[in-house]
Amino acid sequence: MFKAAIASFIIIATSFSFHFWPLPQKSSYHSLFISNSLSDNESISNHLYMLTRRPHVAGSEANAEAAAYVLSTLTSYNIPSHIASYDTALTYPVSRSLVLTRPSPDPPIKFSLQQEVYEGDPYADVANEVQPTYHAYAKSGTAVGPVVYVNYGRVEDYVTLKEMGVNVSGNVVLARYGEIYRGDIVENAYEEGAIGVLIFTDRKDYGGGGGDVKWFPDDKWMPPSGVQVGSVYNGAGDPTTPGWPSTEGCERLSDEEVERAGDVPLIPSLPISWADGDAIVRSIGGQVASDAWQGGKDAPVYRIGPGPGIVNLTYNGKQVLSRIENVVGIIEGAEEPDRFVILGNHRDAWTFGAVDPNSGTACLLEVAERLWKLQKKGWKPRRTIIFCNWDAEEYGLIGSTEWVEENRQMLASRVVAYLNVDIAVGGAGFKASATPQLDELLIQAAKQVPDPDNSSQTVYDSWISSTDNPAKIGRLGGAGSDYSAFVQHIGVPAADISFGEAYPVYHSMYDDFIWMNKFGDPMFQRHVAVASIWGLLALKLADNEILPFDYLPYALELQRSVESLKDEVANRGITLVPLVKSIKELETAATKINEERKALEGSKSWTSMCKDSQKVRELNDRLMMTERAFTDREGLPGRSWYKHLIYAPSKHNDYGSTSFPGIDDALEKAKNLNTADSWHSVQHEIWRVARVITQASLCLKGKLT
Ligand SMILES: *[C@@H]1O[C@H](CO)[C@@H](O)[C@H](O)[C@H]1NC(C)=O
Ligand SMILES: *[C@@H]1O[C@H](CO)[C@@H](O)[C@H](O)[C@H]1NC(C)=O
Ligand SMILES: *[C@@H]1O[C@H](CO)[C@@H](O)[C@H](O)[C@H]1NC(C)=O
Ligand SMILES: *[C@@H]1O[C@H](CO)[C@@H](O)[C@H](O)[C@H]1NC(C)=O
Repeated sequence: MFKAAIASFIIIATSFSFHFWPLPQKSSYHSLFISNSLSDNESISNHLYMLTRRPHVAGSEANAEAAAYVLSTLTSYNIPSHIASYDTALTYPVSRSLVLTRPSPDPPIKFSLQQEVYEGDPYADVANEVQPTYHAYAKSGTAVGPVVYVNYGRVEDYVTLKEMGVNVSGNVVLARYGEIYRGDIVENAYEEGAIGVLIFTDRKDYGGGGGDVKWFPDDKWMPPSGVQVGSVYNGAGDPTTPGWPSTEGCERLSDEEVERAGDVPLIPSLPISWADGDAIVRSIGGQVASDAWQGGKDAPVYRIGPGPGIVNLTYNGKQVLSRIENVVGIIEGAEEPDRFVILGNHRDAWTFGAVDPNSGTACLLEVAERLWKLQKKGWKPRRTIIFCNWDAEEYGLIGSTEWVEENRQMLASRVVAYLNVDIAVGGAGFKASATPQLDELLIQAAKQVPDPDNSSQTVYDSWISSTDNPAKIGRLGGAGSDYSAFVQHIGVPAADISFGEAYPVYHSMYDDFIWMNKFGDPMFQRHVAVASIWGLLALKLADNEILPFDYLPYALELQRSVESLKDEVANRGITLVPLVKSIKELETAATKINEERKALEGSKSWTSMCKDSQKVRELNDRLMMTERAFTDREGLPGRSWYKHLIYAPSKHNDYGSTSFPGIDDALEKAKNLNTADSWHSVQHEIWRVARVITQASLCLKGKLT
């Protein structure tokens, strides 16, 4: 009854345009936001259909059309919007060829490198607009050599190979997708002396395990000719403008300087299908790989090589200075317009992008539409809410990175939080990652939204009862999406949410509206749930008088990370005491500011309102700026763009999201070199992390020493 009463009160309040009554509590608007009366799965489905009619890679005319669609839709919801464009160095394929020479009597195979259009595919007439399969920023050139199978291409896989006495130097490696970022697969191969890299989609990982499993359009699995394209660039942002925005006519690095910077590959690579990978596996002899390295059901026996199969891998790409377009829409805050809550999602796609990323774009537009409806009922946000629809994410988080670099100072002083949705829906099951002060907020939001797959419980209920990692909140140390510049470059609290995790047709031609409608989200109710949680997070961050941040989970998380370091540094003459001490201080400071918050909330009354609002603002500033304190001017050793010393990719795995990346990298080096100097660097990194954590405590306390 309570809810129903409040809902009717809103209607009364908006039928008169004067305010004798106090404005309804913000929270009643928040409940309305997630109610059935405002959500609209038909509209989400329609946005997705419209956005994915054509393949729209960054820099293409089709992607400019999609930008125009987003701009006009936001504008139609009465949200003042504009385009922030950049000229960025993107690469496209010019020619590719792959020939496998096998021992006689088997004839050579010249692979077609084509993803097949299936019978009845409604997108057949635009299939030729899909880019030929390639790796963005791959090195142009030819690599001819015997093939070595390297499993997932991880550092530990090469350790195994060495133990088996296999040297990949001078060979072409065949790796499979699925465990680490493809850019790291190429980088690791290069460091081992490989001359070229082929990365295939294994049926074991993307084809339902192999055997007589069906594939798209009959099932959700990757078809035999399906290829996961993607970038192999290891940095963030336009490689020719590291650390500064790619504005028209700006300073740019030359090709040689880009190569020297070390984030673009120096050997050619190609992504290939499971059918082609299978044919190459069959040409490899030598030792039989271990069970963990084998394929799925009915797969041939995987051997290591080298050879006797020899491939000629040839790739030629071109680099083009391309115009990219971020669409930015702004709902100005009524009370604190200079505090920003940003919702971000990218728009550019390798192919049609129904899952990645336009399920997220459709949700972004849904959130915008619901906020428009709320505004019509009299709601105004306390703080400013900003919608960002990024471009060129797929190439290396380029649109978001250039924008953050261009607006760095404004953003660093004003952004409360950044809320990212890349893939909104790839399947069932809620997934979330965040900087830890947002953990509690995420849980609260998930408790308010109905589970799209079971209306008798909430998203939180199914999240907590999921069998793998119940209610686990991931961290944002990877470089997987557009939160990277916000968290890792300028230290903004952030979250990233989705339904479903890996989906099998990822970055292939089959990521289209049909796949989503049949397998990803047939009722578009998971999209509705993502929009509800995403918007609710934004509303709480924008409207709550005191920012809903809790730094206690942050301190506890850091304590756990230190625990896992203990074994690593044992008996090396290294002390973790400075780190342990700084985290203890953070815990104390977090407890104290939580008490301050309670006191302020308790003291609220009409008479002390004015005085309180100053206090509230000061407390909020401390809560907002504490995340910035984890950043360091100099950044990580050899990777100065990454300023955050807690969350950043580790050097050999961009997907990895470990805490203390600087310590991790130093440790890896020390274990390899085992010199006094290298262990000393580990200690130095420990000190550096301890110092930023101390800065965070001081910021939370708000007192000068
Ligand atoms: C691997 O082979 C390369 C080139 O043949 C050689 O220079 C290198 O020393 C070899 N590495 C090992 C560990 O045998
Ligand atoms: C490898 O393939 C390329 C492209 O087809 C061709 O130009 C080149 O001659 C081939 N190299 C060898 C050694 O076969
Ligand atoms: C749906 O949720 C209810 C209440 O939590 C639970 O008892 C039931 O088992 C769930 N149904 C399914 C199919 O998961
Ligand atoms: C929207 O949801 C309703 C109820 O779950 C469903 O009947 C309808 O088919 C859905 N619409 C779309 C476009 O999926």
